[in-house]
Amino acid sequence: MSPTPNPTILFVSNPQGIPVPGEDLIHRPDITIDIDNEPLNGGVLTKTVALGIDPYMRRRMQFEYKPNTPVLGCGIGVVLRSENPKFRVGDHILGRSYPFAQYAVLSEATEPLRVLKNETGLPWTAYLGVLGLAGETAWVGYKAHAEAKKGETIYVSTGAGTVGSVVCQAAKAEGLRVIASTGSESKVEFLKEIGVDVAFNYKKQDVGTVLKENGGVDIYWDNVGGKALETVMGCMNKYGRIVICGFASQWNVPPTEWHGNKSLVLALVKNVTIKGFLSHDTIAKYGDFDFEAEVTKLVKEGKLNVREEASDKLEDAMKMLGDCLVGANEGKGVIVFS
Ligand SMILES: NC(=O)c1ccc[n+]([C@@H]2O[C@H](COP(=O)([O-])OP(=O)(O)OC[C@H]3O[C@@H](n4cnc5c(N)ncnc54)[C@H](OP(=O)(O)O)[C@@H]3O)[C@@H](O)[C@H]2O)c1
Repeated sequence: MSPTPNPTILFVSNPQGIPVPGEDLIHRPDITIDIDNEPLNGGVLTKTVALGIDPYMRRRMQFEYKPNTPVLGCGIGVVLRSENPKFRVGDHILGRSYPFAQYAVLSEATEPLRVLKNETGLPWTAYLGVLGLAGETAWVGYKAHAEAKKGETIYVSTGAGTVGSVVCQAAKAEGLRVIASTGSESKVEFLKEIGVDVAFNYKKQDVGTVLKENGGVDIYWDNVGGKALETVMGCMNKYGRIVICGFASQWNVPPTEWHGNKSLVLALVKNVTIKGFLSHDTIAKYGDFDFEAEVTKLVKEGKLNVREEASDKLEDAMKMLGDCLVGANEGKGVIVFS
């Protein structure tokens, strides 16, 4: 059979700040693949169904990606050929190092792969967002580390993103008072729609002032790090907990320019616990708190809402990644293939 086009996004170089399309990342529509004969080496050949745009892809550029190889991220594909008896032709497979390309050869030798059953018929993209890494991170991180009690106040930075909005809704469901910030008015509106008690735009209102006006914070869910963390530490109530989930404000600047936190002494005098976590380590230690079953049910019942921004053009992934890193996105970015 003649070669089939296999459009691919290649990583070219480690960006200094936000990855620049056409420089650090390039779209190569000219790449081809021989679908019938491409060696699988015990793996599977998939046709891509959907790809997710995640902030952690920026960090991977710093430490993992090799120049002139496909960008890797969370992706779902349908199996066309298989040399692994665990995966059958027609199965939908999820990988977290999935090449940003129309076709992919995936192997369990290089990454864990999972068959998605999706018996409830949710859109496949749900498994890249609310039922994917971001939703899982929010669910297990909140259940394992927040030690939340009814009536307490939680502040969630980047509250309108997938992680943030799942944390906000989980906390509301447990009777907490939720304060959340985000960087645009439309995202503030979304926070109000999902029941956040105090929703504000951190680019227009001072975080410290808002938190102090609202009686301080018992739990801080930190998605951003940097100066904001220092500020919030000054607003923590006694015996508060800070859950460090992300570092969004710092990945795009060189480590030598990362913000130095001068508020650590406040953790001492206020008896504040600071816990950082990675979702896979938390799951290994504490289990997953029935993540998939519980969150699927909440999504189906309309009790858990997240925002999604979709494109059917692979090349849009480059801009969408940059938008997600500066907050110019309106929801979880996904590329959906027809
Ligand atoms: N610990 C783990 O295992 C784990 C796993 C997955 C994800 N994470 C982290 O969880 C966080 C949320 O992830 P997500 O997938 O739901 O994506 P997300 O919230 O959409 O993350 C990107 C958002 O970060 C915000 N942001 C960007 N630059 C910022 C800055 N300088 N200051 C403040 N906010 C900034 C923007 O939102 P605004 O418009 O609101 O500013 C942007 O939309 C990320 O930090 C991610 O790295 C951690």
